[in-house]
Amino acid sequence: MFERLREAPGGAAPPLASAASDLEDPDLQLALFCCYELHYQGFDDVDDRWEWEPSLLRARAMLERAFEEALARAVPWPEPVGPRDVRRVLKELAAADDGPSVSAFMRREATLEQFREFVVHRSIYHLKEADPHTWAIPRLRGGPKAALVEIQADEYGGGRRERMHAELFRGTMRHLGLDDSYGAYLGRVPPITLAISNAMSLFGLHRRLRGAALGHLAALEMTSSQPNRRYAIGLRRLGGDAAATRFYDEHVQADAVHEQIAVHDMCGGFAAAHPEQTGVLLWGAACALTLERLWAGHVMSRWERGRTSLAGDSLASSSM
Ligand SMILES: [Fe+2]
Ligand SMILES: [Fe+2]
Repeated sequence: MFERLREAPGGAAPPLASAASDLEDPDLQLALFCCYELHYQGFDDVDDRWEWEPSLLRARAMLERAFEEALARAVPWPEPVGPRDVRRVLKELAAADDGPSVSAFMRREATLEQFREFVVHRSIYHLKEADPHTWAIPRLRGGPKAALVEIQADEYGGGRRERMHAELFRGTMRHLGLDDSYGAYLGRVPPITLAISNAMSLFGLHRRLRGAALGHLAALEMTSSQPNRRYAIGLRRLGGDAAATRFYDEHVQADAVHEQIAVHDMCGGFAAAHPEQTGVLLWGAACALTLERLWAGHVMSRWERGRTSLAGDSLASSSM
């Protein structure tokens, strides 16, 4: 696929298989991630016209089918509920989240090297923070649209570059001696880390899944404030200064507010206007929680065995 993408667009599609895959299939997740990336920042040595090249879109559709089927196997479709019950069920889903707590570990025990690994994983999403859910904006109208815009405006720093969450995250990366350029660690993360971003892109780029995009964002916001408080404490324990922890500090407050907007105005409003969409909305939330749990399981099980959670060797150690 990479060889083909370096050539001029057109002709035969890159050879992409669609064999039944699980969520941690490395070829599926990396190929899909790269197809989606053409809609974001693209690649320096790939012609931008590949973004809408029909042969590649056909190949991507096969990957998406495999990914969506794997998601459906891993994440049972929540029982359909009435629109008025969506807010309650979202809260129940978030409260029932019982995966290994990476944030508790980061707060008390993580080494500097483990914190750096954690940040490398998160860089795949945080350096494009908010972009995948932004796709949903033109697919909405009225109150839910205004609510999503309100959240996204905050994520993008309210018009101030230095307050953009992606920029704050770059500050954290630099403090940890990591490369803060976009995509620097794409080849260093395991498939489950890519699957987290791929799910957001899948939901954001398909109108039929716009409810899932909203549920997904709500689940992120609902499970963000307290973990970010713990990440900030953990990074301060490891010597992080105010600039290093600002990304996490910012999310403690911001996401407590975003949670309310996301659950009530965005998801509640969307469910009221589209009662037939409550199932897909809750499924999107459940997908976010399940992928995060699988990711946490991967990271913690590697660390418990004294191994790196990244693909390949551990990061070369460098001091703060
Ligand atoms: Fe954010
Ligand atoms: Fe947020």
